[in-house]
Amino acid sequence: MAHLTTLPAWHALHAHFDAVRDRQMRELFEQDPSRAERYSLSVGGLLLDYSKNRVDDETLRRLFALADEAGVPARIAAMFAGERINRTEGRAALHVALRNRANTPVLLDGVDVMPAVNAVLGRMARFSHAVRYGDWLGYTGQPITDIVNIGIGGSDLGPQMVCKALAPFGHPRLRMHFVSNVDGEQLRQALDRVHPQSTLFVVESKTFTTQETLTNALTARAWFVERSGEPAAVARHFVAVSTNRQAVAEFGIDPDNMFEFWDWVGGRFSLWSAIGLPIMLYLGEAHFLALLEGAHRMDEHFRHAPLEANMPVILAMLGVWYINCYGGGSHVIAPYDQLLERFPAFIQQLDMESNGKSVTADGAPVGVETAPIIWGETGINGQHAFFQLLHQGTHISPIDLIASLRTRSGLAGHHDILLANLLAQAEAFMRGKTEAEARAELVAQGLDEARVAALLPHKVFGGNRPSNLLLLDALTPHNLGSLVALYEHKIFVQGVVWGVNSFDQWGVELGKQLARGILAELRGEAPPGTHDSSTARLIRLIRRVRGG
Ligand code: F6P
Repeated sequence: MAHLTTLPAWHALHAHFDAVRDRQMRELFEQDPSRAERYSLSVGGLLLDYSKNRVDDETLRRLFALADEAGVPARIAAMFAGERINRTEGRAALHVALRNRANTPVLLDGVDVMPAVNAVLGRMARFSHAVRYGDWLGYTGQPITDIVNIGIGGSDLGPQMVCKALAPFGHPRLRMHFVSNVDGEQLRQALDRVHPQSTLFVVESKTFTTQETLTNALTARAWFVERSGEPAAVARHFVAVSTNRQAVAEFGIDPDNMFEFWDWVGGRFSLWSAIGLPIMLYLGEAHFLALLEGAHRMDEHFRHAPLEANMPVILAMLGVWYINCYGGGSHVIAPYDQLLERFPAFIQQLDMESNGKSVTADGAPVGVETAPIIWGETGINGQHAFFQLLHQGTHISPIDLIASLRTRSGLAGHHDILLANLLAQAEAFMRGKTEAEARAELVAQGLDEARVAALLPHKVFGGNRPSNLLLLDALTPHNLGSLVALYEHKIFVQGVVWGVNSFDQWGVELGKQLARGILAELRGEAPPGTHDSSTARLIRLIRRVRGG
C-alpha cells in the first residue's frame, strides 16, 4: 500500500483545507437550509447528525476519496473475509463473526468459525440460565446473588460498561461487581460486600497470564476457601473465560468451568464473545442476543453502504479531517445518559489501544498524527467541569454528544432538562457568541461602557467547534450493540487510512516487562538492577519505607 502522504487524495484534501480552514459553520448553516437533513443518517435505532462539523459537500467528497484511495473498501472486505489483517500477530480480527446473527459461514483458513461460536453461545446460555433461575446453587444450596468479574482492559471495560448501561434490564437478584485493579483496595471492597455461599467469581483473561487478574483471582480464591472452609466448592463458585485452556487448568479452575474464545478476538473487541458472560448472566440470553443483533445490524451497514452513506466511515473521516488537517489531537466522548457513565473509558481503550501507533503495519514511520487522545465524562457533569476549555480554550477538540430519546428513570422533568442541555451545548459549540451579540447583552444589562469594554473579551465565544450528535431511540441492548460496533468500525477505518495495525498493542509490553524486574527488586528477590538514578533511588526509598 502506498504511503498515505503520497496519495493524490491526501494532497487534494490538504489543498482544499488551505482554502477553507477558517470557514464558519454559522455561515454554512445560513447558506444551506437543508444542511441538517442532508448531514444526518440513521442506522437501526441510531441517528447521527454530523451537520455541526466544519465541512461542506466538497470536503466530504475529498475525505471519501481519501478513504477510497487508502483502500478502506478492500480492508473492510478483508476483515469480514477472515484475512489475517492483524499482521504482527498473524491473526484475523473476526469479532464480526461473534455477532453474525445471520449465521452465514465465516471462513478462517477455509474453516467456518460459526459452529464453534454458536456452541460457546449455547454453553453460556445454559450456564446463565441455570444461575439466573436458581438451578446453579452455591455450596450451601443458596442461589447466586453476587457476581464478581475479575479481569482488566478488554476483559473488564466492555462487560462493565454494558452491565452498567443496561442495568434496567438486569436480573433483580444479581448484583454485579467488577474488579480490575491490582490495588487490593478494589477487591477488598468487593469481598466486603459479598458472601462466599452466594457469590460467583468470573475470572476473565484472554491470555490468562495477566498479573493483575491472576493476583486478584488467587486472592479471591484464598478468601473463598478460608471463609467457606470448602476447597472442593471452588468448582461451583469460580468459572473462567479465556483462550488459554492450559493456563486455566494450571490455575486450578476445572476446564469444564471454562468458556472459551479464540485468538482472532482482540481483547478490546471481545465483549461479544464469552468475555460477555457476565453480561449474559446479568441480562439473560435474549438481551445478550439483542446486543449481538444490534452490532450485526451495524456490521451489515458498514459492510454494504457506500462510503458517503456509511456511518462508521463518516465518523472516521471527520476525525481524520480534524486530526490530520486542523491538528486537533483530542476527542471527547460525552454521553448525556448516566447509564453510559463508563462509555468514555470503554472507547478510550478501544481507540487509543487500537490506533495509538507511530509505525505503519509495514513497520515504516507513519509520519502523520494518529489516534486522538480520547477523554470524557457524562456530558452534564462535563459541563460543570471541562466544557469551559471546549468552549473558550485554545484546543480544537471535537466532541461526540450521545443521548437516548427515551429515558427509563421515570422521574418527571429530568430527561427534558438533559436533552435541552445537550442541544444547547451543540448549538453553543457551533454558533458561539459574536462580539456584537455579547456587547448587546452587556449593554442591555445596563453596564457602563468601561465595564462593557472590560468584560467583552471574556464574554465572546469563538464558536465553530465541531460536534457529532448521536441519538438512540432508547438505550436498549440492540441499540447499544449498534453504538459499540459503530465505534469499533470507525476506529478500524481510521487505522486503515493511517496504515496502522489497529489490532495489536505492543505498546503495553515494555512497562509489563520492567515491572517484573522491579517487583523482584522491591521484594528483595533480585539484586538491584540497572536503572536510571531516579528509578533506583525510588526503589531504595520504597524498600526502606516498607522495611525491605
Ligand atoms: O493492556 C493490554 C491488554 O492485553 C489488553 O489489550 C487486554 O484487554 C488486557 O491487557 C487484558 O488482557 P487479558 O484478557 O489477556 O488478561
